[in-house]
Amino acid sequence: MKGDNFYITTPIYYPNGLPHIGHAYTTTVCDVLTRYHKNILKEDTYFLTGTDENTSKVVKAAEKVGKSPEEFTKEVVDYFGNFYAQLNIANDQFIRTSDKEVHWPGAQKIWEQLVASGDIYKKSYKGLYCIGAEAFVTEKDLVDGKCPDHDEVPTELEEENYFFKLSKYTDQIRNAIQSDEIKIIPETRKNEILSLLDEGLQDVSFSRPQKAIPWGIPVPDDDSQTIYVWCDALTNYVTALGYGRDDDSDDSLYKKFWPSATHVIGKDILRFHAAIWPGMLLSAGLPLPKKILVHGMVLSDGRKMSKTLGNVIDPKQLMEKYGTDALRYYLLREIPSFEDGDMTEDRFAEAYNANLVNGLGNLVNRIMKMAEDNLDAPVALTESDMIVPEDYTQAFAEYNIQKAADIIWQQIATADKKIQETEPFKLIKTNPEAAKEIIRELVVALANISYLLEPFVPETAEKIITAVMANQKPEEALFPRI
Ligand code: MSP
Repeated sequence: MKGDNFYITTPIYYPNGLPHIGHAYTTTVCDVLTRYHKNILKEDTYFLTGTDENTSKVVKAAEKVGKSPEEFTKEVVDYFGNFYAQLNIANDQFIRTSDKEVHWPGAQKIWEQLVASGDIYKKSYKGLYCIGAEAFVTEKDLVDGKCPDHDEVPTELEEENYFFKLSKYTDQIRNAIQSDEIKIIPETRKNEILSLLDEGLQDVSFSRPQKAIPWGIPVPDDDSQTIYVWCDALTNYVTALGYGRDDDSDDSLYKKFWPSATHVIGKDILRFHAAIWPGMLLSAGLPLPKKILVHGMVLSDGRKMSKTLGNVIDPKQLMEKYGTDALRYYLLREIPSFEDGDMTEDRFAEAYNANLVNGLGNLVNRIMKMAEDNLDAPVALTESDMIVPEDYTQAFAEYNIQKAADIIWQQIATADKKIQETEPFKLIKTNPEAAKEIIRELVVALANISYLLEPFVPETAEKIITAVMANQKPEEALFPRI
C-alpha cells in the first residue's frame, strides 16, 4: 500500500515558558497522524516541530530571570526535548528559528523574493501591538481595552517599518481556499477565513526596528530592521526542508516534501496560516501547502487555562501519575478533533478508569489469561489478520481522530460482548475444541486492536502484541487502578 509523501507540521512554539497542555495537544495530534501514515498506510512521512524564538516575549521572559535569550531558550528547548520523549513524540526534526545555519538563509531568501516581486515597501506606522499575539491589533479587536485572546493591554507603537502587500493577493488566496487547492479542515474554519477574505486583506507590517527586537533576523540590505516574527516563523515550514540551503538538490527534503504539507494549528492562528503564509508563498513564487488542519482549544472546566484562575493542567504531572498513554488517549479520544474540548483531572480520571482500566486493560487481561491457561502455543498471526476497517481509514482521511479512536473502542466492546455471550471459560469444560477456537479468535481480534491502537498509544500497543506473541497475560496491569 505504498502511497504518497506525507509532510506534517506543528506550529513552532514560543519558548517563553515550559510546554503546556496546548503544546501537548497539537503535537500529539501530529504524532498520531504521522504514525498512521507511516505505519499503517506505509507512506514516506516527515514530521516537523520546533520553537519560534525571535520574539519580544522570549526576550522579556529571559530578562525576567536574568538570563540571555540564548541561555534561556536553550534551557526551554532542552526541556521540550525531554517532554517530547516522555510523550513519545516521533518527530523527524526540531527546528529553532534562532538557528543561523538551518533557518536564517531561507528566511532571508524569501524576504528577498518578496522584495523582488515589488511587495515590500516602507511606511511609518502608529498602532497597538499585542505582545501575546506578536501582532498589531486594532481598537475594534479589543474588549475593555485588552486583547481578548491574550488578556493583555496592547502597547502603543510608532515605528517606521517595512510593509508586505498582502492586500494584492486577496483574490488569489480566496480562490485557492475556495477551490480546496489549500484545503482547510474543517469546513467551518474554511468558511470563517473566506468571510475574512471577503472583507479584503490589509497590508501587514513585516519588520520591526532592530533596536526594538535585537534578537531576530536582520532584514537583508537593511540591518536597522529585523524581520517581523510571523514572517520569520512561517518560513520555518520550508527552511527546515533545506529551502535557502539545498532546495535545488534532487535529494533535498524540500524537493521531496514541499508542497505536500499539512499544517496543524489551533484556531487562534488561522489568519496567519491561511492568509499571510499563502500570500508570502504567492509573492515568492513558491507552491502553496495542501492542507491546514484547525483544531479547537483544550479548556479546563469550560474556561481558558490561566494561572489566575488556578485551573492550569500540567501535562507532565498527568503523565507521571497516569502514564504517557493515558494522556495521549485523553487528548486524542476525549477532546473533539475540530472543536474546543474540556479537561479537568476528574474527567481525566473518569475516562481513565472507564476506558483504559476497565475497557482496554481488562479486555487484554481476560483474553490473555484464557489464552495462557488453555492454548499450548501462541496464536500464529499472519499479515492478513491485520484488518484495517474502512471506517477507520475514512475517519483518518477526514482527519477525524476522535472518530478513528471510537472505532477501536467499538472493537473492544465487540470483543467484550463475544466473551460474555460465548463464555469460553465455561465452554472449555464441555467442549474444549470449540472453546479454544473462540479464544484463538479473540486473540486475533486483540492483535488487530493493538495494530489499530499503535498510532494512538504506541507503548500499550507494543505491550499487547508482546503478550500475544508470548501467549501470556502481561505481568503488570497495562493501566493500574488509581
Ligand atoms: N509561535 C506561534 C506559532 C508560529 S507557527 C509559524 C504560536 N505559538 S504558541 O506557542 O503560542 O502556540 C502554538 C499552538 O498551541 C497554537 O496552535 C495554539 O492554538 C496552541 N494552543 C495554545 N493553547 C492551547 C490550548 N489550551 N488548547 C489547544 N491548543 C492551544 O502561536
